[in-house]
Amino acid sequence: MHIHPYRMPETNLRFTHTWGLGGMAVTLIFLQVFTGILLRFHYDANPQFAYDSILRIQSGLLFGQFVRNIHHWSGMFLIVVAFLHMIRVFFTAAFLPPRHWNWVIGIALLLGVVFINFTGYLLPWDQLAYWAITVSTSMLDYVPLIGQGMKELIRGGTEVGASTLLNFYTFHTGIFPVALFILMLIHFWKVRKAGGVILPRKVRDEEVNRIETNPHLIKREAVAALGLLAFIFLFSTFFDAPLQEKANPAFSPNPAKAPWYFQGIQELILHFHPFFAVLVFPSILLAGVLAIPFLKYGAGNDKIDFTTASHNKIILCSALTAIVLTPILIFLDEYVLYLEELVTGIPPFISIGLVPFLGLAGMTWLFVVVIKKKFGNKKIDLVLAIFVLFAVAYLILMFFGTFLRGQGMRLVF
Ligand code: HEM
Ligand code: HEM
Repeated sequence: MHIHPYRMPETNLRFTHTWGLGGMAVTLIFLQVFTGILLRFHYDANPQFAYDSILRIQSGLLFGQFVRNIHHWSGMFLIVVAFLHMIRVFFTAAFLPPRHWNWVIGIALLLGVVFINFTGYLLPWDQLAYWAITVSTSMLDYVPLIGQGMKELIRGGTEVGASTLLNFYTFHTGIFPVALFILMLIHFWKVRKAGGVILPRKVRDEEVNRIETNPHLIKREAVAALGLLAFIFLFSTFFDAPLQEKANPAFSPNPAKAPWYFQGIQELILHFHPFFAVLVFPSILLAGVLAIPFLKYGAGNDKIDFTTASHNKIILCSALTAIVLTPILIFLDEYVLYLEELVTGIPPFISIGLVPFLGLAGMTWLFVVVIKKKFGNKKIDLVLAIFVLFAVAYLILMFFGTFLRGQGMRLVF
């Protein structure tokens, strides 16, 4: 019945407890719906007219460019904010029961946010959009049995064309927003059912002082939302959303890159057999993240947190390992190791698939052994180490894919 309880623990008012990130994600989604509806009045989802309708929105309408900029940038920020919110939830150990199903719903929300961005990406129908969607949907070819069928279902045919645009438009402005809205309602309901946002570890054993939510929290939420809106409006005043020339299916730009959030996967394809890059790694990552709340950690859940000095060391150790090792492996594969030539006569599935995959699995195992030796055997600490290791490694892969890949996807500075 109410998004907020009447009273709430005073300790949870501190901005640095949640960093306001859940609320910011909600604000951005509402902003997207509002600006999205405005854009819809003038957007034409037909390959012949789509690009021109964007040009008309930009230069023929009062504040048209501004509204498009807001929609573009807040879509991007939404992914960042939702990701950071996940990190905050992780570090406050708020994924543990009774909040475990909300973690799962959160993952669904994050995927929803990524796919609503992805479907929006095609709509401007410029070269960037056309080829990014062509590259990303082609990745599905490497999924055995169902991959090709899925690709053609999403594209509405063999090529990216009119049916693809209509499919993406319907998902973008109809199905995904409704699905996101429903999931969001369940997400909020579950936050309330768990008794509100988790208490900081320090005060979990104490009697907490409860104060009225209105005005104390409501005012702070309003300030955070208005601050965020001010930032987005300023940003959108100075930076225009990109728009290249009209899509040309006959001419592929070099390099043709996937949207930035998929460039970690595109970077992996450069190093591994695509079956591993497109299917095995993402599946393991997703299964791992979903499993985090359901592993049995022994100690009482409310005793768990990640705030001791030894946790800081684990985080530092994992992050540094990823920061140092990921680039080294990328450079090694690019300039030194030519696995395919090293072991001739073996199918690429093994030589550049299974072999490096097992190599990486071995390294992860070694990493866990070292962490166990240095910091003890607690399962929750190992989960912390692996979570940070892979989160940072993916960010670095994305960085390489976005900023350090040029013509022919070769490394450039
Ligand atoms: C969380 C929600 C949403 C996100 C993250 C999102 C994201 C995006 C993105 C990234 C683009 C491409 C922008 C560009 O580079 O030009 C886009 C375009 C578009 N979106 Fe959304 N969107 C959302 C919701 C909506 C809704 C609810 C509608 C309409 C009801 C909508 C309508 C449009 C239209 C018409 C375009 C094409 C105009 C253009 O590209 O500038 N969007 N969206
Ligand atoms: C569109 C994306 C999302 C929206 C709009 C959203 C919204 C919110 C809001 C408003 C809260 C309460 C305030 C706060 O914690 O800041 C919350 C809490 C929570 N969220 Fe999300 N969230 C999103 C994505 C996620 C993701 C990706 C995860 C994790 C994988 C997640 C897991 C949780 C959990 C477990 C809580 C309870 C935290 C606690 O009790 O301390 N959410 N979310």
